[in-house]
Amino acid sequence: MRISALLLGLVACALSATASADAPIVIKFSHVVAVDTPKGMAAEFFKKKAEELSKGKVKVEVYANSTLYKDKEEMEALQLGAVQMLAPSLAKFGPLGVKEFEAFDLPYIFDNYTELHKVTQGPLGQNLLKKLEPKGILGLAFWDNGFKSFSANTPIKLPADLKGKKMRIQSSKVLEEEMRTLGALPQVMAFSEVYQALQTGVVDGTENPISNLYTQKMHEVQKHLTLTDHGYLGYAVIVNKKFWEGLPADVRASLETAMKESTVYANKIAKDQNDKDLESVKKSGKTTVYSPTKEERLAFKKALVPVHQKMESRIGKELIEAIYKETEFDPSKL
Ligand code: LMR
Repeated sequence: MRISALLLGLVACALSATASADAPIVIKFSHVVAVDTPKGMAAEFFKKKAEELSKGKVKVEVYANSTLYKDKEEMEALQLGAVQMLAPSLAKFGPLGVKEFEAFDLPYIFDNYTELHKVTQGPLGQNLLKKLEPKGILGLAFWDNGFKSFSANTPIKLPADLKGKKMRIQSSKVLEEEMRTLGALPQVMAFSEVYQALQTGVVDGTENPISNLYTQKMHEVQKHLTLTDHGYLGYAVIVNKKFWEGLPADVRASLETAMKESTVYANKIAKDQNDKDLESVKKSGKTTVYSPTKEERLAFKKALVPVHQKMESRIGKELIEAIYKETEFDPSKL
């Protein structure tokens, strides 16, 4: 199934390369979330802008909800040139060998979007994107989603409540350590499989920004959601380097403008979209939404911040300290 999807992509790619000179350049943009999420909406915005600004020289085909490729396949497809653009979560670059991106998964490293933007929209973020180039990938931008909350079928008020629970995670060693630190059992799984795994009890719970939870209907198969905001989930918009550098200069310039505008849009709507989806989750009455007290929040923070030190050898102490400097975070002052 996976191989045939890749082959199909490659055939399509070869066909588009032999298309007539004035046929539009096709950009396949594959992603795994719903259309009405921050990433889904930003991808549609990019399509509109790119087609407008390139005056029809480019056609962007957006494939949402893992309809073209799932998590791991889409990275391979990008490197092979079967798709041209993706926006994977920053937690999914480890398997590619770019472990530094997992710094974004460190629990509580960012308290809010303002702190986060100091990194993603500043020189640290630019340097991180450069690490993709040896992999044949160019990083164009960071797009926000939001802060994650834990969900499960049993109430979660304190770190001990996750002990022994099977928790679905993205493919990040930092997230694995986060769950182990809580005494939970991490299970790496593609996003497209999560709803069913929760429904059938293959896993007990997970962590997500509310927009992902709501649009995949995970709240219908999780009895408890606790608004922990314990970590960030966002994206790097990436392209196949060879494809991008081979574009005519005028086309590339219009796409760069389209990407700049889409990034402003993405990062403007992300919080509102998550807030709006939280209201919908509450209204649905299908899950109990719990907001931890100040003391409970501190208990989670104290339990999880030690993950930073445990992951120094993977991510690099220097990078972690550089982020602390930007965000003025001091773990000794908890
Ligand atoms: C997940 O796998 O939970 C997320 O990375 C999905 C996404 O793209 O937001």
